[in-house]
Amino acid sequence: MINFKQEIAKQIAKASNLDEKELETYIEIPKDVKNGDYAFPCFRLAKELKKAPPQIANEIKDKLVINEIMIEKVEVLGGYLNFYINRQVLTKEVLAEMADNEKYGKSELGKGKTIIIEYSSPNIAKPFHIGHLRTTVIGATLYNIYKYLGYHTIGMNHLGDYGTQFGKLIEGYKRWGNEYNLEDNPIQELMKIYVRINDLCKEDETVLEACRENFRLLEQKDAYCVDLWERFKEVSLKEFQKVYDMLGIQFDSIIGESFYIDKMDKVYELLEQANVLQESEGAQIVNLEDKGLGVCMIKKSNGSSIYVTRDLAAIRYRAQTYDFDKCLYVVAYEQALHFKQLFEVAQYLDIPEKCKKGLRHVQYGMTRLSTGKMSTREGNVIKVEDLLTEAISRVEDVIKEKNPEMENPEVEGKKIGIGAIIFHNLANTIIKDQVFDWDNVLNFQGETGPYIQYTYVRTKSVLEKTGYLPKAEEIKVEKLLDEYSQAVIKLIYSFQDSLLQVTQKDEPSILARYLIDLAKAFSSFYNENKIITEDKELQDARVYLTYSVGKVLKIGASLLGIEMPNKM
Ligand code: ARG
Repeated sequence: MINFKQEIAKQIAKASNLDEKELETYIEIPKDVKNGDYAFPCFRLAKELKKAPPQIANEIKDKLVINEIMIEKVEVLGGYLNFYINRQVLTKEVLAEMADNEKYGKSELGKGKTIIIEYSSPNIAKPFHIGHLRTTVIGATLYNIYKYLGYHTIGMNHLGDYGTQFGKLIEGYKRWGNEYNLEDNPIQELMKIYVRINDLCKEDETVLEACRENFRLLEQKDAYCVDLWERFKEVSLKEFQKVYDMLGIQFDSIIGESFYIDKMDKVYELLEQANVLQESEGAQIVNLEDKGLGVCMIKKSNGSSIYVTRDLAAIRYRAQTYDFDKCLYVVAYEQALHFKQLFEVAQYLDIPEKCKKGLRHVQYGMTRLSTGKMSTREGNVIKVEDLLTEAISRVEDVIKEKNPEMENPEVEGKKIGIGAIIFHNLANTIIKDQVFDWDNVLNFQGETGPYIQYTYVRTKSVLEKTGYLPKAEEIKVEKLLDEYSQAVIKLIYSFQDSLLQVTQKDEPSILARYLIDLAKAFSSFYNENKIITEDKELQDARVYLTYSVGKVLKIGASLLGIEMPNKM
């Protein structure tokens, strides 16, 4: 498709002798179509050129040589240059691109670039909580979008399977293992053991000592301890897998922190060589105070490794294995300091410069519950599996009431319930905290997953009613020049750009927002324009546009990990 933005940047570059790539980033899409389809603000140039923005705008305009077929007119308004593109050309472009294209918006732009996306990363023997749900959903979306844009993408799950708490769990299990059933509800049971042994440790110093000894034995690969630990891992993973299956999530690599244990000596060695390792109260640290990042502990005084050190070893491993251009960590903002320290210390590793530069913490906010209803007795830990199951059953109830004849309420209920939860996690700027409220999440008319699905189903039923799909090449573009059709066409045109923006900012909510905008634009189009009309050419054009909206909604939703129902 013609890239109008690029074309405009190219012409401005010629008229102003400024850098085309940079200019392109300044170009905006005006909120009000009255101000054109694209706008170039001259404010940032004012300082450099020592002129008032309106003057700059006029001077550029005088020198511009525009392609009149693509761009109808250019106007100066205040400090802006407003571009009005030719709607017939735009419409033709969109229709041609849409024709027989099941992968609309796909690109090879990322070819040759490798991106690791680390997401989910729950902890063994601990609940998969609502925060893990969020990283899972955000990470999977980023994964899908990078892949769609042609990047070589690797999805990694960095399981928390190491730490001194396993010494305690082993001790607890040794004492009371046969009282607990690890088969049905492993994590809940392991948590009970953990709480019990912890209490005992507080009372009895010798028990604590035994726990420490277990951890030491585990580190030395004692068969009994390793076996038990493997078992805890296995039952936990089985439980996590249930959630992944419900969400339709997969990983290319699942590696626990324990994998890096024998890869840490090299990290100590490199830091020593770089002369940054210091001793402090028996522990080994890197002092980052001059960077305002405090002190980063690398090795405890008793010699055991820590979280950040395993992360350092993981960075080396990833650089060696994948030679990545970017490595994204989708982790809650609570760990911001950890990642700042990690990336700072990683500068001393023996990995390529591009890997060092490509490390990025993608931070997301917390999820709070609007009511106490979902919280369990032991506090605010909600089992994600229960949450998903509840979403599905709530949707099924609504379906049974609204549409009692529906054939497979369970199948559609699952897509809608899960879709609602996924969408809710992506609907707003991810760093913001969010409130979980059932009425909001499942509202078919709100800015929700079900609303997108509902709009999709509407496009389907229009096509069913008309019973045919016209050929794209036969559509008369003149029939789609009204305001409502154009609003839809412009959005369809910008689909790929919204995907690009997601990757530029690592902000999947841009796509979620886009889908809401498209669904709303379609609703207005549908309410204002009769689709079935006497004018066959007009009808064909509108049917085709309806079909196109359905297609883009479906592709977009699937990139978010949401399946479309056939009926609602
Ligand atoms: N397992 C950790 C947690 O649940 C998250 C791990 C994040 N990833 C990392 N490379 N440190 O809090």
